[in-house]
Amino acid sequence: MIIAVDGPSASGKGSVSRRIAAQLGLPYLDTGLLYRAVARDMLDQGLPLDDEDAAVRAAKSLDLDGLDDPRLRERRMGEAASRVAASPAVREALLELQRDFAHRPGGAVLDGRDIGTVVCPGADVKLYITASAEERAHRRYLELRDRGEHVDEDEIYQDILKRDHRDQERSAAPLRKADDAHLLDTTNLDIEQAFKAALGLINAAR
Ligand code: C5P
Repeated sequence: MIIAVDGPSASGKGSVSRRIAAQLGLPYLDTGLLYRAVARDMLDQGLPLDDEDAAVRAAKSLDLDGLDDPRLRERRMGEAASRVAASPAVREALLELQRDFAHRPGGAVLDGRDIGTVVCPGADVKLYITASAEERAHRRYLELRDRGEHVDEDEIYQDILKRDHRDQERSAAPLRKADDAHLLDTTNLDIEQAFKAALGLINAAR
């Protein structure tokens, strides 16, 4: 069973997806980490983020074992990831890896921006998880602060708006809800409530 979860940053999709995967005994891939890893490799080599050939090379040499690097969660990596993710060639270079993961025997849970629309259009269940920009900024602020980053909540809010805009307006695989995705708005839900709501939608759909 393939479960595709999409939505904007800090919507709760990562926490919900991780818990769904654990509950159903399925492997889980946070595809945002792939774009973050490409960005990290570029920054580490001092390459400009718009050097598409270098970004494609970084994408092609990615391996899933390196995705537990805590640096990938830093605020600047999210911002840099959304820049490299605007390149159709970079997206294409990461497609096979994601599809191979999705088609593991037994299935998988993948979350990102284009899982239900591009990576796994035939997924068994699709969720589109969102929340207000203010609530998402607040969550991201708390998360980064807990991780020891010095951040200003209003700056995070501006980041979120900028990232939403870039992800939704790009021509390659823009963030949008697949027509057959179930919408889950987590603005007024805590993580436990969001998880239960998602599980209910999945159980009803399969
Ligand atoms: O989800 P996360 O914030 O880690 O993603 C970082 C960036 O990677 C997003 O802003 C988006 O531009 C890009 N991304 C994407 N497609 C995905 C996952 C992430 O374009 N499937």
